[in-house]
Amino acid sequence: MDTRPVLFIDSGIGGILYCRHFLSRNPGESVIYLADRLRFPYGTRERGELVSILVSLIEKIARLAEPKIAVLACNTATVSALAELRERFPYLPFVGTVPAIKPAALASKTGKVGVLGTRRTIEDPYIMELARQHGGCTITGIAAPELVEFVERRFDSAAESEKRAMVSTYLNRFRAAGVDALVLGCTHFLFLLDEFRIEAAADIAVFDSVEGISRRVESLLETASETPRRENRLLLTGSAPPEPSWRAWADRLGFRLSLLEET
Ligand code: DGL
Repeated sequence: MDTRPVLFIDSGIGGILYCRHFLSRNPGESVIYLADRLRFPYGTRERGELVSILVSLIEKIARLAEPKIAVLACNTATVSALAELRERFPYLPFVGTVPAIKPAALASKTGKVGVLGTRRTIEDPYIMELARQHGGCTITGIAAPELVEFVERRFDSAAESEKRAMVSTYLNRFRAAGVDALVLGCTHFLFLLDEFRIEAAADIAVFDSVEGISRRVESLLETASETPRRENRLLLTGSAPPEPSWRAWADRLGFRLSLLEET
């Protein structure tokens, strides 16, 4: 059995729920969750910059931890850099996260699908290409950088009413555009899935990619591991000591917390 870890990468906490979902289905696997807190947020950066950031991160982590699979648990990183990463690291299988436009397009009755993501994701031609591949639905893309910040910095402390108010603002804009199927195209927004579903009520169906990503990773595993997993790790970029919120995440997940530069 291949005991090397599966690597999950995001700019911040967005990919944590993807990582946790994967572990809940594959308890014998070990993971490294890498949060690039030093360069958060990714969504306001340019494509070329993200490519160099991710290439150097993968180089470093591949040397240190030899992951067997790398999951870009981040739509922004995926649309910006997946192709280059695959070319640059041919020995490492990559799984990317892209907005779940296919199921949303199939479910939509109006043919109008909404995508909520970062500016970088929404502006990337890949989104329109996905729409073309999946029945030519009309895409309304909205960039929500403040929602990314909200989840990263305030998700734990914000009141439920504030979370609901935040998501309602976006849902109303999608409603006004005739959207009846909404894709959460940023992994951070999965933290607000319940609020989106409640506020979307019956008129907008909400789609995410969490299940699809776990299945894709599983399809790359040689055999399901049954032995107890080794230690799971939460790695942060940057030299500043981890903020209390990161310590809390490490405790909640039961992961060992450390800084990438120090490992
Ligand atoms: N969680 C990331 C995504 O799925 C990006 C958030 C950010 O750093 O802007 O796109």
